Amino acid sequence: MQIFVEKDYNAVSEKASEIILNCIRENPRIVLGLATGSTPEKTYKLIAQNYKKNKLSFKEVKTFNLDEYLGLENSHKQSYHSFMKKNLFNKIDINIKNTFFPTEFISPGKYEQQIKDNGGIDLQILGIGRNGHIGFNEPYSSFKSKTRKVSLTKTTIKDNSRFFTNRKEVPVMAVTMGINTIMQAKKIILLASGKNKQKAVLNLITNKISNKNPASILWTHKNVIFLIDKACIKK
Ligand code: GLP
Repeated sequence: MQIFVEKDYNAVSEKASEIILNCIRENPRIVLGLATGSTPEKTYKLIAQNYKKNKLSFKEVKTFNLDEYLGLENSHKQSYHSFMKKNLFNKIDINIKNTFFPTEFISPGKYEQQIKDNGGIDLQILGIGRNGHIGFNEPYSSFKSKTRKVSLTKTTIKDNSRFFTNRKEVPVMAVTMGINTIMQAKKIILLASGKNKQKAVLNLITNKISNKNPASILWTHKNVIFLIDKACIKK
């Protein structure tokens, strides 16, 4: 486990994009696990800017998104499909056929099989929810969980409501990679930034491993980087 405490959100994003780009340079056929949310937005922006400048190709790269809402069309502005297109896929030369979402593989074991058939996830990018969730694995999710349908907690629904104009539109269900699915990745980077992640990050760093705090399982992974900023830990 490596922990990097960066100055601020921009520095976290710079470092994350460097790590990801280096991994792609080393392995142009890399399989990436991708997260959505406001935290990785700048990281994706920097990766897209790098593509524009240096033309590092994504033609052979494959991606597996962590999660997606249920009950929203893929074309909905707030779907994670749209998020990925807007923030990354439309700005690089990735083949859209190489981009996968769990809502297309809902039956038990299907997403895991698809990941396995593509060689497994080499690098998984994660954010963290205020309640310690990773993907949409809410507190008390089993550490053995695989990709499945889940109900979102009140905290998560409230947090996500900032992206929707109408509260009634905010999805209450999603499909997420399971905790076990995430833990199969060969390398993981968890990004966190800002005061509102302080509780989640302090819990992660100081508390014991428990499924009350899903992200805590990452301590048992052999190749994890926590990339956080000062605001996450400053009292
Ligand atoms: C959602 C996503 C998570 C993400 C979390 C934090 O719940 N499913 O994958 O990590 O939000 O989002 P943000 O980065 O916007 O705080």
